[in-house]
Amino acid sequence: MSRRRRIYEGKAKVLFEGPEPGILVQYFKDDATAFNNQKKGVITGKGVLNNRISEYLMTRLTEAGIPTHFLRRLNMREQLVREVEIIPLEVVVRNVAAGSLATRFGLTEGTPLPRSIVEFYYKNDELSDPMVSEEHITAFGWATTQEIDEILNLALRINDFLSGLFLGVGLRLVDFKVEFGRLWEGEEMRIVLADEISPDSCRLWDIKTNEKLDKDRFRRDLGNVEEAYQEVARRLGILPEGGPGDLKGPKTMQ
Ligand code: TMP
Repeated sequence: MSRRRRIYEGKAKVLFEGPEPGILVQYFKDDATAFNNQKKGVITGKGVLNNRISEYLMTRLTEAGIPTHFLRRLNMREQLVREVEIIPLEVVVRNVAAGSLATRFGLTEGTPLPRSIVEFYYKNDELSDPMVSEEHITAFGWATTQEIDEILNLALRINDFLSGLFLGVGLRLVDFKVEFGRLWEGEEMRIVLADEISPDSCRLWDIKTNEKLDKDRFRRDLGNVEEAYQEVARRLGILPEGGPGDLKGPKTMQ
């Protein structure tokens, strides 16, 4: 029963053709992967929560002057987004040593960094998203120098804004990953924030206890994964109306 044309299917989301040209439907799955697909699982209700959390964060960021692909949420698991040409980079911003940075440099997780660090990874599952420098990005034509400057500027503004927003609800934004796309409006091209921002793509630690409230609970088998996503939504004031019982959402997606 394929009502809509599937444009792209990733590990956690599906993009469908939208109601008009240039607009897509972004569907959030409960599927979770880690370590480039080596670990697979399902986090019940994750899609519903990430749809809400990403809607909330993208809306706040838009208000703060950050251009995004987000248009509006459609239902429990879907949102309307502008079709963009995805720049094949995973842009990671870090405030505190954790994850692969801690491993790479032998740092204790939780050590504050002297300043925020931005890293680029080439978005390519077959190659396990290798880290790249600006030299690789320009030489291989993934983005121009001007586009990299714009991406760096946006990534740091997003970091400042989200760090403050999460601090306000008792969460430390340790690090996060974002993706950007080119949005064409006639002859004009703008770089906009795309994809999603959610506990799948951020590390969020409770400010007092350092409890992890993000996908590291799944990656590291820490338990209470669903509860952690719910807690982030709860703190942001956006748990679906029926409460956690309402998280499964509609059974079918098409
Ligand atoms: P890392 O420490 O594993 O490099 O991850 C840095 C941040 O990027 C962390 O918040 C999780 C996020 N991330 C993704 O969203 N997707 C990925 O594929 C990876 C490796 C990390």
